[in-house]
Amino acid sequence: MNPNPMALVRILFGTLLLVPTSWGALEVGSLRARDSADATASTCNGRAEYCDRSYSNVTFVGSHDSAFVGELPQQNQNIDIKAQLDMGVRFLQAQTHHSILDDKVLELCHTSCFLEDAGRLESFLSTVKDWLDSNANEVVTLLLTNGDSVDITEFGDTFSSSGITDYAFVPSSNPDTLAIDKWPTIGELILSGKRLVVFLDYGADVKKVDYILDEFAYYFETAYDVTDSSFSSCAIDRPSGASASGRMYIVNHFLDVDIFGVKIPDRKHAGETNAATGDGSIGAQASLCEGLYDRAPNAILLDFVDKGDAINAQNDLNGF
Ligand SMILES: *[C@@H]1O[C@H](CO)[C@@H](O)[C@H](O)[C@H]1NC(C)=O
Repeated sequence: MNPNPMALVRILFGTLLLVPTSWGALEVGSLRARDSADATASTCNGRAEYCDRSYSNVTFVGSHDSAFVGELPQQNQNIDIKAQLDMGVRFLQAQTHHSILDDKVLELCHTSCFLEDAGRLESFLSTVKDWLDSNANEVVTLLLTNGDSVDITEFGDTFSSSGITDYAFVPSSNPDTLAIDKWPTIGELILSGKRLVVFLDYGADVKKVDYILDEFAYYFETAYDVTDSSFSSCAIDRPSGASASGRMYIVNHFLDVDIFGVKIPDRKHAGETNAATGDGSIGAQASLCEGLYDRAPNAILLDFVDKGDAINAQNDLNGF
């Protein structure tokens, strides 16, 4: 028999075409099985214990000014958003302002877009969305600030164009505030696919954009821009005159140095500030606050999250 080389090629090619198709089908099947198994049991935000914990009963270490990455004095972080998420940070704070060049575009800028412009809010949201896409058992919180009093619908449009809105959690109580003891567990958020919780400091309106929640209806905060390295206060700073009861709370645990009246992040002492224990550490301020409010903080915002021992501090506060 005279082997026909073309026939051989065709057979080989056919096999190649077939194999990936059947692998693909198998993979989809087994991925589905794995997803649903994970959602009902195994781990939530990396630990089985979180699955049954109410969102409002979890302590998250957070990245303050998460998008300002670099070595300049006005930059607050050393590692980018994806790296922050990869290391275990699940609470990202970011400042928004209107772009200087296009006042229809929201950018992540530090006080002013002249000082520091870390790009579009939309691309930040896309980065978070990509990360959520590839990390199915994780819940992430965003806390945005609205320094230019931008209308809420512009935030809504930006979220929509990033494609992240399907992940966003909408409280069943809307337009009323969800009571602190009514929050779903981390496991329930994962199971429902609503793995993004979004807060805005000023200008939220859930009647217009139902998933962007009013930060100060849900939280109070301690003072920010602290220059006292012992972090000796947990007093309520915002909303002013607020009561602690019924609110979750955010501790601003990032140290500034005052250079001739300008406060900049204290990069040099980040290791001690972000230590789990010791004077002026995350653990020390958290236990001071816990003594005052009878419960651990819900979020502890940090500069330079990669320095010190943020994740161990978070574990300690959650009782691990
Ligand atoms: C969660 O609940 C436990 C038990 O009541 C409490 O000790 C802890 O401080 C709470 N944590 C938060 C963040 O509410």
